[in-house]
Amino acid sequence: MADDTTDTKSSNQMWGGRFASGPDAIMEEINASIGFDKKLFAQDIRGSIAHATMLAHQGIISADDKDKIVHGLNTILSEIESGNFEFSRQLEDIHMNVEARLATLIGPAAGRLHTARSRNDQVALDFRLWVKEELQKTEQMLTGLIAAFLDRAEEHAESVMPGFTHLQAAQPVTFGHHCMAYVEMFGRDRSRVRHAIEHLDESPIGAAALAGTGYPIDRHMTAKALGFREPTRNSIDTVSDRDFAIEFLSIAAIAGMHLSRLAEEIVIWSTPQFGFVRLSDAFSTGSSIMPQKKNPDAAELVRAKTGRINGSLVALLTIMKGLPLAYSKDMQEDKEQVFDAAESLELAIAAMTGMVRDMTVNTARMKAAAGSGYSTATDLADWLVREAGLPFRDAHHVTGRAVALAESKGCDLAELPLSDLQAIHPDITDKVYNVLTVEASVASRKSFGGTAPSEVRRQVAFWRARN
Ligand code: ARG
Repeated sequence: MADDTTDTKSSNQMWGGRFASGPDAIMEEINASIGFDKKLFAQDIRGSIAHATMLAHQGIISADDKDKIVHGLNTILSEIESGNFEFSRQLEDIHMNVEARLATLIGPAAGRLHTARSRNDQVALDFRLWVKEELQKTEQMLTGLIAAFLDRAEEHAESVMPGFTHLQAAQPVTFGHHCMAYVEMFGRDRSRVRHAIEHLDESPIGAAALAGTGYPIDRHMTAKALGFREPTRNSIDTVSDRDFAIEFLSIAAIAGMHLSRLAEEIVIWSTPQFGFVRLSDAFSTGSSIMPQKKNPDAAELVRAKTGRINGSLVALLTIMKGLPLAYSKDMQEDKEQVFDAAESLELAIAAMTGMVRDMTVNTARMKAAAGSGYSTATDLADWLVREAGLPFRDAHHVTGRAVALAESKGCDLAELPLSDLQAIHPDITDKVYNVLTVEASVASRKSFGGTAPSEVRRQVAFWRARN
């Protein structure tokens, strides 16, 4: 698509009388949005076709003019899609570019299209349609990411790894359980997306500049034709509102935060020091100088994209803050924030889905790490409560002494001889060794939502049915 300014007509000329001269070059530059809002061309044309069809149905324009308009708009659609449309910056935005071209194609009938509407409701419509489609795409992509995690969780329902708090080994967990934590996070993101689609599912067209219109339009008809549940209810709010864009950005920021935590874990897990996962060649890069290196660049970039998405959210909140009702030109600055965040979010979800599907999980490394750091200490304390009848606080104290002893001997809890354990508490028997292994530890945690393989499989089944 060409971005030149070859068209000689400016939007000032299209408005006629009051404007004796064209705008100053700087005015044109600050005013124009065509450089980015041309992305809305399909929505703009779809909206105009629905509007013209309704105008004719209501007898506001003739059927003949409507046919010319619809035919012309379809021609423009294919011109733009095939790259044969010349966008003009002098014509400011996508709405004026399409309308000017329509006038060239069909003549005076083009002038009837803008009856009973304004660019204020037009842009609100185009942008809402775009955000709605983007949300639908995001929903699909999140479903793909969730599916990748469900597969890995099922595969690794029994693989033991250290669970962390403060990034210090805390208690053994299963890798499947850890994967399912991400399923919950991205599942919440997906339900936020679904709610946002419901929220924005109201058609703005027909609010006109801000006050509605005296023409006998049918807003229910256009709402239906454009796939909205119903028309918006207040024309002032309709042209003032960008909540749908801010909701998209908030959802993107929260999902981005989740993605960045996953990215960070993958960065940590793929270090030689951890060695829990190995990224596929497809999602890592080498070093130009250090041949041994395999860098998790894609994960690092996902971590960084989150900062960018947060920036867009704060930018649009700040643009909208304090704006008086109804439309102000400030609002034109909404689109780039959303377009940029949408691109970042799509890339981040796609990259993480690929990484999760492709990475090799080193279960031996995970298991070895799970057993170190006295990770079954809580299991020992629980055993003392259950089998020896100690109050938990006392059991905690006894276990602390066992850990200290193991530490001084440089061995694991399971490696302490029974005589050593009995010296700490006489009621300890050799049955205690059954709970000191990591497998026994995770298998015992069968509480609802716990880390036991049986529980992980139950949650996988729940999510598979939920989709
Ligand atoms: N390009 C404008 C935008 O994106 C379209 C609406 C212009 N409306 C106006 N009253 N100047 O916001």
